Amino acid sequence: MDNKVLRMGVVGCGFFGQKHADIINQIPNARLVAVCDIQEDAARNAGRMFGVNNYTSCQEMLDKEQIDAVSICVSEDFHLEPALCAAKNGKHILLEKPIARNAVEAEQIKQAALENNVRLMVAHVCEFDGRYRYTADAIERGELGEIISIYLKRSSTQSTAARLKGKVSMFHYMGVHDFEAMLLFARPALPVKAYSQWVAKKNASFNAQDTSFSVITFDNGIVGCIQLCWALPDNEALAFVACAEVVGTKGVSYIDVKNQGLEIFSETGLRYPDLTYWPEYFGHTAGKVREEIQHFVDATLSGQPYLVDTDLAIEAVRTIDACFKSLETGQPVTIER
Ligand SMILES: NC(=O)c1ccc[n+]([C@@H]2O[C@H](COP(=O)([O-])OP(=O)(O)OC[C@H]3O[C@@H](n4cnc5c(N)ncnc54)[C@H](O)[C@@H]3O)[C@@H](O)[C@H]2O)c1
Repeated sequence: MDNKVLRMGVVGCGFFGQKHADIINQIPNARLVAVCDIQEDAARNAGRMFGVNNYTSCQEMLDKEQIDAVSICVSEDFHLEPALCAAKNGKHILLEKPIARNAVEAEQIKQAALENNVRLMVAHVCEFDGRYRYTADAIERGELGEIISIYLKRSSTQSTAARLKGKVSMFHYMGVHDFEAMLLFARPALPVKAYSQWVAKKNASFNAQDTSFSVITFDNGIVGCIQLCWALPDNEALAFVACAEVVGTKGVSYIDVKNQGLEIFSETGLRYPDLTYWPEYFGHTAGKVREEIQHFVDATLSGQPYLVDTDLAIEAVRTIDACFKSLETGQPVTIER
């Protein structure tokens, strides 16, 4: 591997694969070499858009192109196959969240990376969001004292549920950000029990839920609650709605992502544009997703450790598995590991 430029391929050319490809193209020490999607049209369009070769098979792309690392941006349920393909071919992996659709597949991915001596970073973007990172650091410094409770909430418009039509759960699509952040704030405590309830009225016709509440208990007594909702009115003003309250014996941290310090009033109403994750200005994509990809590139080239802990990504999915079991049984579920 040339230690000055990371040659990358993108697997999965949907909404986020295109975002990754665009950002990789803009990063000085990364080069987008090729793209791949099992849907021929999607692969061809992305190849044309970014001026690189396109493939419908990850293996073929890795056989034919000089690639050091792949960015895997396929749909949530299908992370295992391309991740194993990349690992077996000796390519470093940036893997979109969630690491996998369940903890068994997540462990397989971790194992494959270890056995093939490739590096793996799960793209948990809240790790790069100063509000979440600062809270984690304040907890580590002892500023909040001993942590008592962790509440996180994330909401989206109904159009998100309508677009996905039950193909992916709200837990895997958006909640995994909060499950991972909760584990980050609770470190080194681990979750031991989960109890979840959900409601489906507005989205019932899409075979999707409206909202869910999950109560998580940790082995040191911390209690956590994650509230998810994708039934908000379809109003673009609501770009990102997420918040958190972390209470300790000596302090509290409040996170508010909705109000990012910019409100635009116009004839069409009020908007809170995204300034955090992938805002566009100066003619390129800025924000935390870019910082995350830049970090992956820099750390892969230099050999420095990644900021995202793979074990937290796995525990997040394991906790979600327990929430699903709780929804099935209507009972609190012990988290096995
Ligand atoms: N961090 C964030 O804020 C954020 C935001 C959006 C999406 N994501 C994540 O990015 C990933 C992709 O989401 P999306 O919205 O782009 O989905 P999408 O449905 O728009 O695109 C997924 C693409 O993957 C392709 N695909 C599926 N299996 C494949 C395989 N085995 N090999 C190659 N291509 C395959 C599909 O054909 C599709 O084109 C998901 O894991 C999602 O959770 C993260």
